[in-house]
Amino acid sequence: MDRLDGIGVAITGGAGDIGAAMGRELSARGASVTLVDLRAPEEAAPWLERARGADGEVRYLRADVTDRGAVDEALARVDPLDIAIGNAGIVESAPFLEITEGQWQTHLAVNLTGCFNLGQSAARLMVERGKPGRIVFTGSWVQEVPWPEITAYSVSKAGIRMLARQMARELAGHGILVNVIAPGIVRAGLAKRQMETEPQYARRVKHVIPLGEPQSAEQVARATAFLCSEAADYMTGSTLLVDGGCSLFQFDE
Ligand SMILES: NC(=O)c1ccc[n+]([C@@H]2O[C@H](COP(=O)([O-])OP(=O)(O)OC[C@H]3O[C@@H](n4cnc5c(N)ncnc54)[C@H](O)[C@@H]3O)[C@@H](O)[C@H]2O)c1
Repeated sequence: MDRLDGIGVAITGGAGDIGAAMGRELSARGASVTLVDLRAPEEAAPWLERARGADGEVRYLRADVTDRGAVDEALARVDPLDIAIGNAGIVESAPFLEITEGQWQTHLAVNLTGCFNLGQSAARLMVERGKPGRIVFTGSWVQEVPWPEITAYSVSKAGIRMLARQMARELAGHGILVNVIAPGIVRAGLAKRQMETEPQYARRVKHVIPLGEPQSAEQVARATAFLCSEAADYMTGSTLLVDGGCSLFQFDE
């Protein structure tokens, strides 16, 4: 396990299931982790607790990723900032014919513009401070594969993929590596809520995971830690797909 002692990390959506697992994995390796999220501090407390690993420190800052000023303000307080992870996200299912303009705009604002805000703000700080760094965005296997009734979500995730590739190309000269971690169906956070509240979603999930079981947030976090490690120091503009084979499947209900 690569150590990350002395490394400063910011994670948006950090008071969520996958973000907290990332925080725990990275802080256990010695990183100093700042979780950034929309939730009020009292509400975020259980995730903050979950994120505290053995060694590193974990703290919490409240910010809405759609509010550029708030993102800039939060990241300015993270020093050093070696790794920035754009992980805040939302999903709301709707058949294509019924998606409202509001639903469409909200998905793009939080999932895609939120990553742009985090990515540009972090990159500017890294360049200003004259330090190389890593930026990781949480995409999804559905950035490549259409899944029923989540058009706005999957399009936002496809946008993140190109955002990362574009940034990787332009920021390479500054020593900033930009990659995407693309999980499958996780028994946590957004998908867990969908499994619990949408019977048609739960039914579909049973058919599409070649490895049989939904992923754990910890499995996503371990793969993310790889993208933050020395071992990934020649990766940029890539997607690390960790989906249990979901994207291999021709699904049929
Ligand atoms: N759960 C899955 O199966 C799955 C699969 C693939 C990708 N993902 C991605 O993983 C990421 C984390 O999702 P999760 O499953 O842990 O869900 P989650 O709901 O547990 O976490 C998402 C977090 O994002 C925060 N958030 C939402 N809007 C925000 C905003 N405007 N500003 C700041 N924070 C905001 C929420 O408060 C929440 O804490 C998301 O990007 C999601 O798309 C999840």
